[in-house]
Amino acid sequence: MALKVTWYSHACLMIETGEAKLLVDPFITGNPLAPVPADQVQADYILVSHGHGDHVGDTVDIAKRTGATVISNFEIHNWLLGQGLEKAHPQHIGGGFNYPWGRVKLTIAHHGSALPDGSYGGNPCGFLFYIQGRKIYHACDTGLFYDMKLIGEEGIDLAVLPIGDNFTMGPEDSLRAVKLIEPRQVLPIHYDTFDVIQQDVDAWKQRVEKETESVVALLKPGESLELA
Ligand code: NI
Ligand code: MN
Repeated sequence: MALKVTWYSHACLMIETGEAKLLVDPFITGNPLAPVPADQVQADYILVSHGHGDHVGDTVDIAKRTGATVISNFEIHNWLLGQGLEKAHPQHIGGGFNYPWGRVKLTIAHHGSALPDGSYGGNPCGFLFYIQGRKIYHACDTGLFYDMKLIGEEGIDLAVLPIGDNFTMGPEDSLRAVKLIEPRQVLPIHYDTFDVIQQDVDAWKQRVEKETESVVALLKPGESLELA
C-alpha cells in the first residue's frame, strides 16, 4: 500500500505505513499552526530528533496516552525514562534498527539538543526511513552539510527539509540541499511557525523546480501526500 505522510506543521510528521503510525517531533501544544489538539493525535511510535521544546513537544503526554514507543538518541531516551516512560528505544547517529514496520537510521544534523529542563540531550539527528521499499529522509533541524550527498546516494523518494532560516537552513541553503540529495520529492518544513522563520514557500517551490529535477510537495498543516 501507499505510505501516507501528513504534515502537522513545523517539523511534525505522521507517517502511516498500514501497520503502524509513526509520529515525528510532535510539537502540537503551543504551536500556532497545529491543525489538531495533542490529545487527538494517535501514534504507535514517536521519533524525537533533538531536545528542543519545538520537537520534544507533547511526546511524553502522547506516549503515556497511546502507549507509543519513543525512538530517540540515547541521551533523550534516558531523559524520557526519567519522565516516566517505559517504552523507549535508544539509537544513535549512523545506527539503524529494523522495527516490525521498517528500518530507521539516525543521520547527523548540525544543531543543538538541550532538553526543555536544561538536561543534556546529546547530539541532534535526522531520520532516514526505509519502509516498504521507499526511503524518506527527514533532516529535522540542521544547517546545510555536504554529507547530505551521501544520504542522497541511497536514492531518496521524499526529503523533508527545513527552509525557515534563522534556526535552520534557509531557502538558499535548502535549495543547495535539494541539489545534493536529488530526492524524487521534497517537502519543505520548519517555516511560518514563528515570526523569525516566515518564508515565501511558493517562491521556493518555483526555484527548486526550475533548478532541479525534484518535485516540491506543498502541504498545508493537516494535509497529506501519498508515496506510491
Ligand atoms: Ni531545534
Ligand atoms: Mn526547531
